[in-house]
Amino acid sequence: MINLGILISGRGSNMESILNFLKENAIADVCPKIVISSKPEVEGLKKATKFGIPTKVVSNNLKGWNYDKEIVNVLQKYEVNPENGLVCLAGYMRLLSPEFVRTYKMRIMNIHPSLLPSFPGLNSQKKALDYGVKVTGCSVHFVDEGLDSGPIIAQKHVIVSDNDTYETLSDRILEQEHILYPYCVKLFSERRLLVEGRKVVIT
Ligand code: GRF
Repeated sequence: MINLGILISGRGSNMESILNFLKENAIADVCPKIVISSKPEVEGLKKATKFGIPTKVVSNNLKGWNYDKEIVNVLQKYEVNPENGLVCLAGYMRLLSPEFVRTYKMRIMNIHPSLLPSFPGLNSQKKALDYGVKVTGCSVHFVDEGLDSGPIIAQKHVIVSDNDTYETLSDRILEQEHILYPYCVKLFSERRLLVEGRKVVIT
């Protein structure tokens, strides 16, 4: 059994896509245990409650591991442990401390709205448009100590059209994110992700 913890900071549409997928496909092996938000009163918290998942807000001025320690405490209280847990970052707007990453080594995933390693960090859709790329997309990767730099699990591409705006492009990328993230959670639950250095082999 994989115990799932989801970390959010806002809208929570990726969280919702994972929770919907788990509900509809009854993946017996994954149990969503807790949704933690770094911000109070965000839309994602209401969505999680609708699914009957416990929620917790960890919003304070602590930094680095001092903050993350609190997150780890909550995760472990809900049995999302380094042995049996998976932590999904879904629009979580904080950088993780090295201690957090090491505690859950290759058990933390993130979704990013570009084809990494292009356009890491914030505003990736805008960066892609400004750069003039013809193809962009989204990536799910394991989290390492860098910024959006961990081993890539899977990606989906999106064609950029000449009349795309930030909004139209972001919407089309988001549609693909909602397919990609649940798929990666499923692969993890089936123990099909083999990490070999930078490469993730899907067995
Ligand atoms: C998504 O675009 C995701 O790729 C990025 O932040 C956004 C979160 O959206 N990391 P949501 O909160 O899941 O709706």
